[in-house]
Amino acid sequence: MALLEIVTYPNPVLETPGEPVTSFDEGLKRLIADMFETMDAASGVGLAAPQVGVSRRLFVMDCSGGRDPEQRVALINPEVLSVEGEQNGDEGCLSFPGVFFPVKRSLRAVVRAQNVEGETFELDGMDLTARCMLHETDHCDGIVFIDHTTVLKREMVKRKMRKLARMAKM
Ligand code: NI
Repeated sequence: MALLEIVTYPNPVLETPGEPVTSFDEGLKRLIADMFETMDAASGVGLAAPQVGVSRRLFVMDCSGGRDPEQRVALINPEVLSVEGEQNGDEGCLSFPGVFFPVKRSLRAVVRAQNVEGETFELDGMDLTARCMLHETDHCDGIVFIDHTTVLKREMVKRKMRKLARMAKM
């Protein structure tokens, strides 16, 4: 396994819709194992392939933060089937280090996806699990969480991220 580099905004891969996954091979298994390791090392609860520079529709998630092996799951080609209710709470993203703000999401989400063997399954999640599945499915579609806030807040975050990117190059 290997740690992957997490790309940060404004890297264009984050705003590019990912390609559907069509081959469920050893390369995919390795990518998923590496994504889990990268997510754990960054203390994240979710990580999508575009965030490691791979423009594909898949993400890994563990909303228990490593405490419950059953919550450790990879969702490949995720599709949101239905949503219900509303929650409002602070959200962050590994591609926006240090940026947190309240984002309204559905309280419950049912997502259909494929597992690493290509088998279809459905995941019905509430609260943080719903929030995470919606945030990560957005990543697979080239949507970032600042797209869910006001224009003013979005511009503020964009300026901050561009400044950080410039400083990193110095
Ligand atoms: Ni994110």
